[in-house]
Amino acid sequence: MSAEQRPWAIWTRQNAPKGATDSSPGFLTLGRKRDTPEVAFEARPKPINCATKMKHRLATRNDAQLLGELNHQLIQDEGHRNGMTIPQLVDRMRAWLDTDYQASIFTDGTSVVAYALYWEEKDYLYLRQFFVRRDRRGSGVGRECVRILFSEVWPKDKRITVDVLCWNQAGIAFWRAMGFTDYCLNLEIYPDLKSKTSKAVS
Ligand SMILES: CC(C)(COP(=O)(O)OP(=O)(O)OC[C@H]1O[C@@H](n2cnc3c(N)ncnc32)[C@H](O)[C@@H]1OP(=O)(O)O)[C@@H](O)C(=O)NCCC(=O)NCCS
Repeated sequence: MSAEQRPWAIWTRQNAPKGATDSSPGFLTLGRKRDTPEVAFEARPKPINCATKMKHRLATRNDAQLLGELNHQLIQDEGHRNGMTIPQLVDRMRAWLDTDYQASIFTDGTSVVAYALYWEEKDYLYLRQFFVRRDRRGSGVGRECVRILFSEVWPKDKRITVDVLCWNQAGIAFWRAMGFTDYCLNLEIYPDLKSKTSKAVS
């Protein structure tokens, strides 16, 4: 099957087919389907230096509404199967912020451009969510957030771990560009597929 015949494929700047455009099959999305486009390969602008503009603050439970809404966008963009509604996500976010989780909110001085949600264990920190606002992607915002997290927020003596959905090629490319390396591949099988597989091999 040729590259252009794989409508579900997600192209990165490394493997985009020659001449791919926003409407090409497989243009870069942050979900698994090309009909849920987010940022096209060609749409990524040249990185700008946003280091001087970015500000960071720790979230409080009063940010649950904002973070729940951004969480909903994150779910859409990464193609996650979580079907929770915004109100449910807001409630969950509030409960998380009240207990084990901390969130970092990044602003450009006027508006929120990104957030990170994480919890800390004795010897590692688990980054559960990381999201850059759709209209601010591809300009170095994510990179700058990670720089701030490493230099000003996160403990310097702990391993940082993050999960990325296998089809989220942009997310995988991003974390690798941030220096993260592959560690674990999570596999699963659904009950109906399991019975089909059993029949197939018996
Ligand atoms: C993934 C995400 C955080 C990247 O944020 P961003 O601000 O666009 O990233 P940056 O512009 O700082 O990119 C930094 C580097 O990451 C890599 N990268 C980022 N987006 C990429 C993409 N779409 N395709 C290929 N590489 C990409 C590049 O190496 C880039 O460096 P370069 O621009 O010098 O080549 C953002 O797209 C996002 O929020 N996506 C939805 C949520 C998500 O998938 N989160 C991550 C999973 S937990």
